[in-house]
Amino acid sequence: MSKKIAFGIDVGGSGIKGAPVDLKIGEFAEERTRIPTPEPSTPDAVAEVLRELVESYDLPHDAPVGVAFPAPIHHGVVRSIANLDESWTGVDLPALVHRVTGRHTVAVNDADAAGVAELRFGAAREAEGVVLVSTLGTGIGSALFVDGVLLPNTELGHLEIDGHDAEKRAAESARDREDLSWDEWAERLQRYFGAVEDLLSPDLIVIGGGVSKKHEKFLPKLHLRAPVVAAQLRNAAGIVGAAALAAEGSAAAGV
Ligand code: BGC
Repeated sequence: MSKKIAFGIDVGGSGIKGAPVDLKIGEFAEERTRIPTPEPSTPDAVAEVLRELVESYDLPHDAPVGVAFPAPIHHGVVRSIANLDESWTGVDLPALVHRVTGRHTVAVNDADAAGVAELRFGAAREAEGVVLVSTLGTGIGSALFVDGVLLPNTELGHLEIDGHDAEKRAAESARDREDLSWDEWAERLQRYFGAVEDLLSPDLIVIGGGVSKKHEKFLPKLHLRAPVVAAQLRNAAGIVGAAALAAEGSAAAGV
């Protein structure tokens, strides 16, 4: 039987990554390609990179495209944007990508995509109850599930905590920017996840983003009621989740 393939793309503040995904096993079918995010990161400039990524693979003619994007995506439209060019607000992302690739396209918030991948193929496989998947990178992403069903676009990285936009203090980029020690950063994460836990009482918290590969440096320093585990798909999660949702044309994902 031939493989079921969709093309997944993860748009980030510093890089745009894409790979064909084998949807049966939730893994890349070929090596991933990374292209630096253009500056300024306008819709036209990013669309050109997406076209280049898709065209650099010999994909089945009917393979759909899933785009994980660092913003709330309401029925395909970018609602607001924190870490890319502000001209993205109001853009219909699937329509833009369809225009440059000619392929059926689904767009979804990047953390929601990563969460879907962790639930299907990773650290939260078949988890029940309330599951929070949080990605720590340029910003803080959040994906919230109840018994496997996604509540899209929760945007918990923008909770106001102690008078600050939470991600400005606790994202991985804040650790970098302010040269925080692991202890100092863990204190900020504790404050953030403590507040989130008080609001939502998750049964499981999964921490993703590139820094999750160094989870032993900070996860043991967190003291929360819910079990906290590292994501398993790490940087692949956004690509894999977006590809899976593209293959389903999921409406819940904001298509
Ligand atoms: C955005 C979210 C995104 C997160 C991680 C935040 O700044 O508002 O939509 O999921 O960054 O990229």
